[in-house]
Amino acid sequence: MEHTTKNKDSISHVRGTSIFVDDISEIRGTLQGLVFDSPVAHAHITSLDISDAERCTGVVKILTYNDIRGENQIGGIIQDEPLFAEKEIHFQGQAIALILAETLAEAKKAQKLIQLTYTELPVVTSVRQAHKNGRFTNASRTFRKNDAEKIFAKCDYVFEGQVFTNGQEHLYLETQGAYSVPLENGNIKIYSSTQGPTSVQKATAKVLGVPMHRLEVEVNRLGGGFGGKEDQATAWAAMAAVGTQITGRPVKLILDRHSDMRMTGKRHPYESDFKIGLDKNLKIKAYTATFYQNAGAAADLSPAVAERTLFHATNSYNIENVEVTVHSCKTNLPPNTAFRGFGGPQGMFVIEAAISKAAEALGVSAHKIQELNLLKDGDEFPYGQIASETLIQDTWNKAFTTFDIEKNIQQVADFNSKSKYFKKGYALMPITFGISFTNTPMNHARALVHIYQDGSVGISTGAVEMGQSVNTKMVLVATLTLGISPEKIKIETTNTTRVANTSPTAASATADLNGKAVEMACKILSNRLKTESARLLHLTDIKQISIKDNQVFVSEKLVEISWEELVLSAHLQRLSLTENAHYSTPEIHFDKSKEKGHPFAYHVYGTAFTVVSIDCIKGIYEIDSVKIVHDFGKSLSPALDFGQVEGALVQGIGWMTMEELLYNEKGRLLSNSLSGYKVPDIFSVPKIIEILPLETVGHKHAILKSKAVGEPPLMYGIGTYFALENAIKQFNPNYKHKFNSPLTPEKLLNALYDNHPNEF
Ligand code: MTE
Ligand code: HPA
Ligand code: MOS
Repeated sequence: MEHTTKNKDSISHVRGTSIFVDDISEIRGTLQGLVFDSPVAHAHITSLDISDAERCTGVVKILTYNDIRGENQIGGIIQDEPLFAEKEIHFQGQAIALILAETLAEAKKAQKLIQLTYTELPVVTSVRQAHKNGRFTNASRTFRKNDAEKIFAKCDYVFEGQVFTNGQEHLYLETQGAYSVPLENGNIKIYSSTQGPTSVQKATAKVLGVPMHRLEVEVNRLGGGFGGKEDQATAWAAMAAVGTQITGRPVKLILDRHSDMRMTGKRHPYESDFKIGLDKNLKIKAYTATFYQNAGAAADLSPAVAERTLFHATNSYNIENVEVTVHSCKTNLPPNTAFRGFGGPQGMFVIEAAISKAAEALGVSAHKIQELNLLKDGDEFPYGQIASETLIQDTWNKAFTTFDIEKNIQQVADFNSKSKYFKKGYALMPITFGISFTNTPMNHARALVHIYQDGSVGISTGAVEMGQSVNTKMVLVATLTLGISPEKIKIETTNTTRVANTSPTAASATADLNGKAVEMACKILSNRLKTESARLLHLTDIKQISIKDNQVFVSEKLVEISWEELVLSAHLQRLSLTENAHYSTPEIHFDKSKEKGHPFAYHVYGTAFTVVSIDCIKGIYEIDSVKIVHDFGKSLSPALDFGQVEGALVQGIGWMTMEELLYNEKGRLLSNSLSGYKVPDIFSVPKIIEILPLETVGHKHAILKSKAVGEPPLMYGIGTYFALENAIKQFNPNYKHKFNSPLTPEKLLNALYDNHPNEF
């Protein structure tokens, strides 16, 4: 069954019957919310006149910061982000007011009548400028292992370079939104499209000036999050709830696509400097990097994202001398936020660039340097964790043998020697990704399991379903642990009154954390039911009793007690059919004062081999194939996990090749619609994607040995960038690596002819 398990939502998605926030039946009296946001990126507000707008037909109220009864503050890690702008505007798209009207059309009319005057202030969009001005959202951090600067002097080769990786729009299909409904006595229920129900509850309680227990946050599922709703779903929920608090009416606030693209933060763009030192055997002896992270106008999750950049700065390599520093630079862009990989991809791109730079200068293939430096058991990461159960070399070797990579490389060379205007390039991309929230205290979860007296089961956890199939995985965990069929199990909505104080659904760790809690609760219930079976069968020992296929077995022999009979009997014996379990990841710790510890429960490994073809007349390209050996552990459901690998890979390729986020010098988003921002479609995905699981025993901290899979494969997409640059070099021998992503067809065409030795 496991192998063919589909996401249990797939049928309702296809039929259009799945319910997202905007699909919730509206209660009579519901007001529609519309945000009035800043037209400029940095300014002093001199006046805000809402009087004409408030007189419009259908307008009930226009909220500004003056209407907030608690604190006008939604900053998660650092309290630096107002819900509504007060005296100053810090980015274009910053919320200033919320119009509440009977209909959206009326709200839109009123929006045009709000009068804002301001004096513009200098806009900073560049990280280097922000760095020069000493403008940071949070403290800079450095991870250090031994002494890199000292070792450079002893290296046979030292190379330096600069790198740019752009941001990325999340483009979840369901835009941000919330629906706030008044309950009795001033209590409020918020339906939110959030990855972090508790973050919404906590921040909203602060804004409303009420204790958390007055707010119930409910999440059915998201139409995608990709990190964009880990922290940034909060504002809309808080605004809607303020509306309910002030008017006593339900308030719905859904961003349209353009507003969502304009107002929300994205993956952080990074500029980085690197220095790499090697000995004559191509062993990397020393590596330093400085990362300039474009945090935007407020910290949001930037400190945590920055931290993960440092954790993954050496990717899959063991380097004895390392010093890496990250600066979270404060600019006048919308606050940037979590995005699949969470700063890891930005860090990994830079070490891959450094290796490619060395390879280019030394006239060797980058994969030779990669291979010679792969991690093995016992190596120490720059953050102090000792590598164990390391599988990077296994995935690398298996890729080489199974995919016959040496032969493929030869074929690429043969093709290039014969073809003048079409060229091919290849790259290898090993990945090593740490699983756990890097902030240790976040690594815990709870599950509430009810067995109803008819034998059906309802499970609540803190996990949010957003397409990654975590609910289906929870069903599998319960099915296997209770020994009953999946149809008997329902996963309830994620609701703060049933499961409280949750960490967001993020860090790829949701199935592990919540799944372990489900497993624990189900085990306790199962043992209780086995005890009841023993009573019914007059046995003294439950060891020989098992429950499977909805039946009771004694010493593997079927006895005539069905699951339903057993459950009812336990209920009549006045046994509890409910369990609430708590799981917290063992062994992990991290000391920020030393920047050393053991932050990850385990690592996920993999190797991708990418081949691309470029058309040197048109500058267009295709990805011939991406072949991957991936460490799933012992996959609970290969069908679901393969889907995550494919989706993440293509999202990574989009980031590296075509998704070009553009702001002008005034901080205005130019790539502000789907006509100007290109995401991968069916025509741009690799012609061949081959995924080969590495056969392993899995890891004890992974749910039923099935390793986390949500984010790591995104970084396979980085290989496409290097494969393209390598193809360019085949046509233009004077081309030198630029490390400037995304490598759009426009940039690629220029690269083909810039400084080309021949006349055309
Ligand atoms: N897959 C789909 N379909 N939609 C999503 O929004 N988010 C990704 C990944 N896969 C996402 C997805 C991100 S950013 C993370 S952190 C993980 O799913 C979170 O879920 P998990 O912890 O259950 O893997
Ligand atoms: N990953 C993803 N999301 C997070 C993390 C992390 O390590 N820490 C806080 N939010
Ligand atoms: Mo994922 S970026 O941790 O939501």
